[in-house]
Amino acid sequence: MTKRIRKAVFPVAGLGTRFLPATKAVPKEMLTVVDRPVLQHVVDEAREAGIEHFVFVTGRNKGVIEDHFDIAYELEDTLRRRNKTKEYEALVADLPPAGATSFTRQQAPLGLGHAVWCARDIIGDEPFAVLLPDMVTLANGRKKSRCLAQVVEAYEKHGGNIIAVEEVPPEETHQYGVVAVGEDYGDSFSITGMVEKPPRGTAPSNLMISGRYILEPEIFAILEKGEKGAGGEIQLTDAMIGLSKAQDFYGVRFDGKTYDTGSKLGFLAANIAFGLARPDVAEGLRAELKKLL
Ligand code: UTP
Repeated sequence: MTKRIRKAVFPVAGLGTRFLPATKAVPKEMLTVVDRPVLQHVVDEAREAGIEHFVFVTGRNKGVIEDHFDIAYELEDTLRRRNKTKEYEALVADLPPAGATSFTRQQAPLGLGHAVWCARDIIGDEPFAVLLPDMVTLANGRKKSRCLAQVVEAYEKHGGNIIAVEEVPPEETHQYGVVAVGEDYGDSFSITGMVEKPPRGTAPSNLMISGRYILEPEIFAILEKGEKGAGGEIQLTDAMIGLSKAQDFYGVRFDGKTYDTGSKLGFLAANIAFGLARPDVAEGLRAELKKLL
């Protein structure tokens, strides 16, 4: 029987250089998609998948993230006194329960693998989820859940380590971590290889690692070595390649759409897609888009 996935790591210590100057003073995870910070969308997705404890790996200038997931006494009191009940209740509903968040510091942005390793003591000896907080996912098709719930479902079926993947055009695979496909079970498959940013024309498939994972705690011993990979950074993909020599990895083809809000185009596309999926703004947005196009 598989263990329950209770904890999730959100690595939010990156510099966001692709989105300067917006990210000079504001963490890129706090930019908004419609009216919610990107990170709030990702925490919503984790809650929907049954996550109970949220571990944020932060860095300097990210204090506003901690404030966002805490009560805002003055604001809440003012909303109550002005009878803005709907707004007040929405804020309270978003708040994680007391004690359900942990914050740790990465100190220097040495890479995604290093950020995940910084959460080792808080995670302890149990399988856990990792969600890249600049990737937002939108459910569609026959499954109504977002990506992490589909990943948890695959974990309950296979056990081991699970990675969400999404198809990209073959000429773009050199920008991503890419997996090789073994035995295929339809929605999921066994992974026979992984490579981070393969040189053009050498990728084993067009399935990119899209930013949702379930990992067994043995990953921490590999990350502890601090080996540097692509871009001189401690890469999570390299540690997963190491762990795959001893443990099984499975891929999940996410039935939905993922947007990389860390890139300008992905951010704009996410705002349009999420806006069109929101009943309160969809009609007006569609009319505005028609005028523009
Ligand atoms: P990215 O490479 O997309 O984020 O990492 P970045 O480095 O902030 O962005 P650019 O490329 O400079 O624009 C994916 C996620 O991993 C986190 C980032 O915050 C982001 O959410 N990350 C990355 C860390 O927490 N620490 C790191 O050392 C690197």
